[in-house]
Amino acid sequence: MSKEIKVTRYMPQTGEHITEVFPVPAQAGATVLQTLQYIYEEHDSSLAFRYGCRYNHCGLCGVSVDGKPTLACKKRVAGVREVAPLPRLPLLRDLAVDRSAYFRQFQDQSLYPVGTEPQLLGPLCEDALHRNLMSCLECLCCVSSCPEYNYGEEGFAGPYLFIKLAQLHLDPRDKADRITQSLKWGIERCKNCKKCICPNGIKLKQAIQVLL
Ligand code: FES
Repeated sequence: MSKEIKVTRYMPQTGEHITEVFPVPAQAGATVLQTLQYIYEEHDSSLAFRYGCRYNHCGLCGVSVDGKPTLACKKRVAGVREVAPLPRLPLLRDLAVDRSAYFRQFQDQSLYPVGTEPQLLGPLCEDALHRNLMSCLECLCCVSSCPEYNYGEEGFAGPYLFIKLAQLHLDPRDKADRITQSLKWGIERCKNCKKCICPNGIKLKQAIQVLL
């Protein structure tokens, strides 16, 4: 048994998105990532997409599946019609997001515990919400699903940065003012929205609430 799947590819030479249709096996339990690997092996080895661990650890395989940002290695391909790159983010080629360009925006933000003497280090992640937030895979699906975010627009970082700042705000080692930092990056815009989603169960609404 086989099925067809649409893949929307970004062409960096022209800045266009083109859609191609590929026949793929309709194998029970197969994931979107395995299907992309099949397309690469059997149809077109120029198809660009990212992955690393192949199951829910590295956060590299984020794509949009039928319009919803998700992890290709977790999502079953049964019922899937279309795979596209994560929207709202800078792209390299086909399904590959330019993650370095995205993270570079925050290189001066001290996204690590600041201000505690090493001998004062206490137990970490005792708080259930902190534990949950620390399991962020940095896949950027939250940013891609945020209706307020568009890469390149000034003044609003999107949910990824707010998860990082909430992690640090709840970290007993960190003495920096993460609330002021989150205000500077536009967290007020999340107040009446909170429509971002996480395929890995990060409690985004609670993370934002911690900082507001
Ligand atoms: S390949 Fe690592 S999370 Fe999907």
